[in-house]
Amino acid sequence: MSRLLLVSNRLPVTVKAEKDSVSVVRSSGGLATGLSRPHERSGGLWLGWPGDVSRLTDAQRAQVESQLTGLRCVPLYLSASEVSRFYEGYSNRVLWPLCHYMLDRIPRQDRDWEIYRKVNERFADLVVRHYQPGDTIWVHDYQLMLVPGLLRQRLPGARIGYFHHIPFPSAEIFSTLPRRQELLKGLLGADLIGFHTVSYVRHFSGSLLRQLGLDTDIDRIIWDGREVRVGAFPMGIDVSAFEPLARDSGILEEVATLRRKAEGQRLLLGIDRLDYTKGIPRRLLAVQRLLEREPAWRGRLRFIQVAVPSRTQVDAYAAYREKVDELVGRINGTYGSVTNVPVHYLYRSFNERQLVGLYRAADVMLVTPVRDGMNLVAKEFCAARPDEDGVLVLSEFAGAAAEMDSALIVNAYDVEAMADAIETALEMPEDERRSRMRALREGVKARDVHWWAASFIDRLQGLKTMAEKGLKS
Ligand code: G6P
Repeated sequence: MSRLLLVSNRLPVTVKAEKDSVSVVRSSGGLATGLSRPHERSGGLWLGWPGDVSRLTDAQRAQVESQLTGLRCVPLYLSASEVSRFYEGYSNRVLWPLCHYMLDRIPRQDRDWEIYRKVNERFADLVVRHYQPGDTIWVHDYQLMLVPGLLRQRLPGARIGYFHHIPFPSAEIFSTLPRRQELLKGLLGADLIGFHTVSYVRHFSGSLLRQLGLDTDIDRIIWDGREVRVGAFPMGIDVSAFEPLARDSGILEEVATLRRKAEGQRLLLGIDRLDYTKGIPRRLLAVQRLLEREPAWRGRLRFIQVAVPSRTQVDAYAAYREKVDELVGRINGTYGSVTNVPVHYLYRSFNERQLVGLYRAADVMLVTPVRDGMNLVAKEFCAARPDEDGVLVLSEFAGAAAEMDSALIVNAYDVEAMADAIETALEMPEDERRSRMRALREGVKARDVHWWAASFIDRLQGLKTMAEKGLKS
């Protein structure tokens, strides 16, 4: 295996500052676990932003640097203005809503493009500085869409992959972006471009045709005298890490305690980053609708919604939080009693053990984003259910729906249909619950995150580079 240079906006670590010392802890997120094996085996480097370290002293910074070196991570520090204009600005105020079909959330005037381009150049410079001939470079996600093209200019013979972790929108939507051509050309610097689903691959091809006049074979494009491959690689989760937790006796005791406290009630669960793509308000309205139209469920449902704080400096997220707070208050005000409320809303982060406990306790898991690249929560829920029970209600607008057709698939814009699906899930006979869950678990196990990383890397490393073809050096 050649040395792997992984490039993502965030490094797979969290920097935790204590009084005098500071520690760098590995993250447990999807990308971090999925790429940890190839990162270690290849002896390569991971380049990215370690998060905000502006409050650290010089001595603490030095500690962070040495711990990062130990993990073979190379930091790229973002200034306060880069955080606000590259990360919060162009990445999360423009590209994020665009790829999630939310054009009305994009500011009318885009002022952050230049900074986006400059930060992408800084990433490319850092990669070039660490590149050794024979390395494989793998760039991740929408924050870095120009990096493959910038690298191609400077390292024409390099092997470069890119993976887009969020939806790629239809050509109609993508064409509204003033910088649409620059971004497409940036991606075409790669040898292999990966998406979660075949639909996103089609959308991407549609944009290439419309914007650059490229008539593609769907998975093969000739651009600038080079061949670029495109493919669907659905990301999975680290099933081997979830299985033991889901059987852990300490966690099972907590599950029993939670179930005892909710005696006589059925548990509905939602777990999301607090993001306007996740469909939390419509999900709440569906629960409200069910209580409104079926008085028999009143007092017998407990909906636990975990909302993990995210991108809190972006105004749309603050406004969304207020909307969710208000809805929760309204539903609890209407259907709560002095001893019980229907919605248990928890705005904070949970660790993996706590999450597995919640997954294991739930009767029905509600994953109803209005748009989502993949959604790994749906997969985590199934991996956490070795008891083969629990029903997954899944939005057709999550990439995961393309693979998980044994879930109850719903239109997340249709509140009434979601209320119906929740009721169907609550009343589903045990044998149907089991057969659906068994099928879901098989898929989740067969295509885990290690399978995902290995299939992308194998495909990329199996392609002949320009240097190997002797076309250019
Ligand atoms: C999504 C994106 C990732 C991003 C993550 C968390 O999953 O695809 O690129 O890292 O959200 O968002 P944040 O803005 O905190 O990095």
